[in-house]
Amino acid sequence: MTRAFDGDTLVFATHNKGKLEEMEHLLTPFGVKVVGAAEMDLPEPEETEDTFVGNARIKAHAAAKATGLPCLSDDSGITIDALNGAPGVYTADWAETGNGRDFVMAMTRAHNELEAINAAHPRLAQFRSTLVVAWPDGHDEVFEGVAPGHLTWPMRGDQGFGYDPMFVPEGHDITFAEMDRWEKNKISHRALAVQKFVKGCFGG
Ligand code: IMP
Repeated sequence: MTRAFDGDTLVFATHNKGKLEEMEHLLTPFGVKVVGAAEMDLPEPEETEDTFVGNARIKAHAAAKATGLPCLSDDSGITIDALNGAPGVYTADWAETGNGRDFVMAMTRAHNELEAINAAHPRLAQFRSTLVVAWPDGHDEVFEGVAPGHLTWPMRGDQGFGYDPMFVPEGHDITFAEMDRWEKNKISHRALAVQKFVKGCFGG
């Protein structure tokens, strides 16, 4: 039996502004106020696991311990079929410059690696989101969402964040970065995981 969430405020253990805005938009209809990690002054724990769920657990439990409140985390990324699932859990690392994150650099790397092996089109990929809700007593619940699609080049659009400008979701011909966030939030990996979270923890 999934544990119910009965509060009106949920700490979202992320420092990623794009993720935070999406989560606020996704959970506001359920009367939940979403508070980000920066607002709670939470540290960013090191993500030492090699699975999405492992890293999501680290973030959610660290935040629940620090705040004494139920905390939500998201570990997400993109898996590219022709690159055997890379960058996967290392999606954010591909953007690391040593002095902040550069997603144009990360997307260019993905494109260059596909070109180097002359990967066939469509270049199938999936955005994946694993949400973990952790309570201060150590209990947690896990919800996963996958958005299938393909990669396009050159990058298109200026909405969203991260790898959105090169990802065309299945059934569409525009990238996530060309969609407004309402449209993206109906079909994204994070939206699908949130739907499961809402069903499991809000009974809705
Ligand atoms: P982490 O979950 O913070 O370890 O990093 C996930 C990385 O995946 C982010 O830095 C983004 O670059 C990428 N990512 C996750 N979700 C999305 C999305 O909805 N659009 C574009 N990029 C995403």
